[in-house]
Amino acid sequence: MEGFYHQLATPCVIKDQLSEMVKNNRGWELRYELKSIVPRDLSLFQSDPVIDKLLKEFNPRPVIMTMEPNSFYNWHDDPNRTCSINMLITGDDSVCMFGTSRPGGYFKINELSYLPGRFYILNTKEQHAVYNRSTPRAILSLGFKLPYTYNDIVNFCIQNEL
Ligand SMILES: [Fe+2]
Repeated sequence: MEGFYHQLATPCVIKDQLSEMVKNNRGWELRYELKSIVPRDLSLFQSDPVIDKLLKEFNPRPVIMTMEPNSFYNWHDDPNRTCSINMLITGDDSVCMFGTSRPGGYFKINELSYLPGRFYILNTKEQHAVYNRSTPRAILSLGFKLPYTYNDIVNFCIQNEL
């Protein structure tokens, strides 16, 4: 299973509740410079069949990370995780892109065009960046660590029809 990302078959059923959580949140935590929510109570997440299955099997910690309008998250690969499963909560005109950056140079990119309410497995060992345009962006992200690789998580989701 090569590539940059994989869309899951089963949509998220708690997108509206997550949007409310972001709207009503007070007290942000900084994660990789981004204002984030790291929920302690996972009951809402357990009510989503896909997230519940992933929590039971891999125990990833759900995090909601935000970006302000007109901001850019620079090219990087994730230091502590092999892949993530993301769902865009708000910020439909942001651009998530994969590629191999060359400082000062020209290079091709592959865009991940998030569809509303859909989960994507991201190969975060590949270089990626995010450009946010006009509205606040919030993303749900579940991180996976070694020994689990991007291919393992893709295969698990396909086998379990997630
Ligand atoms: Fe990242």
